[in-house]
Amino acid sequence: MKILDQLEESGFAMSYAGLIEKIEILRSTLRWSSRLERADIEKLLKQASTLRDEVMQMSHKERFVQAAVVEPLRAEQSRGARRQALLARSFVFEGTFGDNPKLLEALEIAEKAAPTDLPVLIDGESGTGKELMAKVIHANGSRSDKPFISVNCGAIPDNLLESELFGHRKGAFTGATNDRKGKFESAHTGTIFLDEIGELPLPGQVKLLRVLEAHEIQRVGSDEPIAVDTRIVAATNRNLRKLSEEGTFREDLFYRLSVIHVTLPALRERRDEIPLLIQYFGDEAAGTLKRRPVRITPKLRDFLLSYAWPGNIRELRNVMYRVSCLAGDIADVEHLPSDMRPTQPASPWLRGDAAEAGSGTGNGAASVTNLLSLSDAKRAASDEAEKAFLQRGLQEVGGTVAELARRVDMNRSHLQMLLKKHGLHSKDFRRQHAQDNGRKDMSASGDDADSR
Ligand SMILES: Nc1ncnc2c1ncn2[C@@H]1O[C@H](COP(=O)(O)OP(=O)(O)OP(=O)(O)O)[C@@H](O)[C@H]1O
Ligand SMILES: [Mg+2]
Repeated sequence: MKILDQLEESGFAMSYAGLIEKIEILRSTLRWSSRLERADIEKLLKQASTLRDEVMQMSHKERFVQAAVVEPLRAEQSRGARRQALLARSFVFEGTFGDNPKLLEALEIAEKAAPTDLPVLIDGESGTGKELMAKVIHANGSRSDKPFISVNCGAIPDNLLESELFGHRKGAFTGATNDRKGKFESAHTGTIFLDEIGELPLPGQVKLLRVLEAHEIQRVGSDEPIAVDTRIVAATNRNLRKLSEEGTFREDLFYRLSVIHVTLPALRERRDEIPLLIQYFGDEAAGTLKRRPVRITPKLRDFLLSYAWPGNIRELRNVMYRVSCLAGDIADVEHLPSDMRPTQPASPWLRGDAAEAGSGTGNGAASVTNLLSLSDAKRAASDEAEKAFLQRGLQEVGGTVAELARRVDMNRSHLQMLLKKHGLHSKDFRRQHAQDNGRKDMSASGDDADSR
């Protein structure tokens, strides 16, 4: 049966066209064979079961294929459209908020990686959402209804590491009063999240590497290997490549863990999202604290927009919860934690105090640390210029967004997005315009009266 051999040789072809072709070959083999030998029947059955497996694989990889198809379009798509496209492909965000291009890129990588079992390494500064991203990967994969087990590798004492990860037999060491499952066994068929992997000591790294290679563990005090099927997602806020060059992290483990590498942007690299995040966490805090969303003064807003956010999204979230708890209707800089509070108005650069700020003394020094770098200062300046431009524009057109869009030759929805970003409300300008007109009318009628 030459045709069956051809089918076998062709191997897996990950396309629907390839699958259909194989099914057709099987069908015609059956239809046109007057007599099948036992060996041929066995071969046919084997092929049918291989095809079944392929169809199953295809359905798991469906999302992967969809994501790959949209790839060429990505560069031309707006952020909103990219996020919308993820939604349309039933992507599970798990509460991940934002549409900054760097974040979208990370989400799009997660989307492609999720349906596979490839290990993923997530890196990024503290509080950038690494654990959340690990949950996103788990939630979008075929293991989503299976356990997601998180292990903080930096928090386990060296002598307990092996037992924590792989479990132990009763009596294996003093204090081992019962048999105990380790995290790997608990994560069997699901995902194990190895947080702060950069803190794992070298002996632990060797053991982990062995598990990743053999897909089996041994409980401490036992010789019996136990097969484990877990998807590995690891996270770190350290530079693992650098650590491996320095010899504190095994290079082979680094390569095993980082087949897919996702880097989450620091909040200061996605400042454009701060206004939306302020609103998002302000509403979230209001819901939790059962109060009306707090309003923030322009001074506090300016500060939040130019602050360096070393603790990233977690810090911003905490700040919004704090001010929502401490302030009445309106929050101001005095509601910030004292170590964060500005010692002078934010952005001295923009007020012509650069000499003082650059002198590295007094208030100026505080701003330098707040802005962190020249590029931060530039971005803050550009944001403020953009806001001032929009404010002036809205004043000129009396708050009519469509008219402003026409005058500055800008897409209306893009303009709406910029207004939202800066917390500008066209209706405030319309109201102001109406008041100004009212005053003019009154003074005009006053003039009339005088002239009469
Ligand atoms: N894009 C986002 N949208 C909404 N919430 C977010 C986002 N990113 C992070 N968060 C929230 O910020 C907090 C910190 O996130 P997470 O714990 O995932 O960060 P991390 O990078 O693991 O931090 P660490 O390095 O300190 O462990 C969580 O409350 C999380 O829900
Ligand atoms: Mg974390």
